[in-house]
Amino acid sequence: RIYKRQLECRADIFRLDAPLIAIYESLIPTAEEKAKQKQLLTSLEKLVNREWPNTKLYIYGSCANSFGVSKSDIDICFALEGADNNKPEILLRLAEILESENLTNVQALVRARVPIVKLKDPDTEISCDICINNVLAVVNTKLLRDYARIDVRLRQLAFIVKHWAKSRGVNETYHGTLSSYAYVLMCIHFLQQRRPAILPCLQGMKTTYSVTMENVHCAFFDRVDELRNFGRRNNESISQLVWSFFNYWAYGHDYANSVISVRTGGILSKRAKDWTRRVGNDRHLICIEDPFETSHDLGRVVDKYSIKVLREEFERAAEVLQHDPNPCVKLFEPY
Ligand code: CTP
Ligand code: MG
Repeated sequence: RIYKRQLECRADIFRLDAPLIAIYESLIPTAEEKAKQKQLLTSLEKLVNREWPNTKLYIYGSCANSFGVSKSDIDICFALEGADNNKPEILLRLAEILESENLTNVQALVRARVPIVKLKDPDTEISCDICINNVLAVVNTKLLRDYARIDVRLRQLAFIVKHWAKSRGVNETYHGTLSSYAYVLMCIHFLQQRRPAILPCLQGMKTTYSVTMENVHCAFFDRVDELRNFGRRNNESISQLVWSFFNYWAYGHDYANSVISVRTGGILSKRAKDWTRRVGNDRHLICIEDPFETSHDLGRVVDKYSIKVLREEFERAAEVLQHDPNPCVKLFEPY
């Protein structure tokens, strides 16, 4: 299957630049929406502080990593020392407090892999998930946000890919397809691999930011303002990049042997990671290394059925971009 037929890019691909940019721009949340998210965070923090003084809430995920489209849910991390052994109790108490205020749809999901409280603010219609001490997520959120500040093409590509994945039903980890986080890492890796490169490998550069969280040492270069011109020698436009991204995942990636790694800026072998066998439910059919929790394969949710669905969708996208007279409609057609 691999290298079966790498397509040669259609000559009129540039006609797609304007419509793709228009889709990207239509997905960006407004300043008003961002302000409402901030306000909600502040008022939630006040509520939490009545019970737990001097604690903080951190936004992570798409509302903080700059890959959030309009109307995204807010992911919030409640940092509370000493809470790790009684998260269920704390979440239940938190749910009680939120429910007694003006918040709706309050639900504590204490048995989930990451236990959370869900809620909705009736005034703004914004939904939130609050978890406890998921601090590595706050750090990987910063890494993604810093990458996005280097070259605007990352944010454009990731918005298009996320929009495609949601439209095509392949952004559902509980159905064995990939998380938004995994798709953004695929986009970062892809832009690190272009020649000339469009993105550097921040974890391979001088350390200007470092923290140790949950026994994981996280270190990378975060003075990204100094890298604003990094990708200027590569003038590929968004249409070429979207085309190449899907072509790579349809026909170029070596699923049998390769692991993509944003941490190293390259490809690792499955053998080197010992990701060649199924262990428990982890099958490693598509391998995406977490940049900090390096034993985490974000492709571990993918099973022998969903890998087929996923690869057929990559192939469909590549074919649509190559042959369809109106690819921007067809690409995002609901499945
Ligand atoms: N996350 C993680 N490990 C995972 C999945 C998610 O650390 N296996 C963290 C990341 O910090 C990620 C956040 O949880 O940014 C939210 O994940 P996800 O819902 O996949 O991404 P969002 O960026 O919030 O995307 P969406 O717009 O679809 O909500
Ligand atoms: Mg989210």
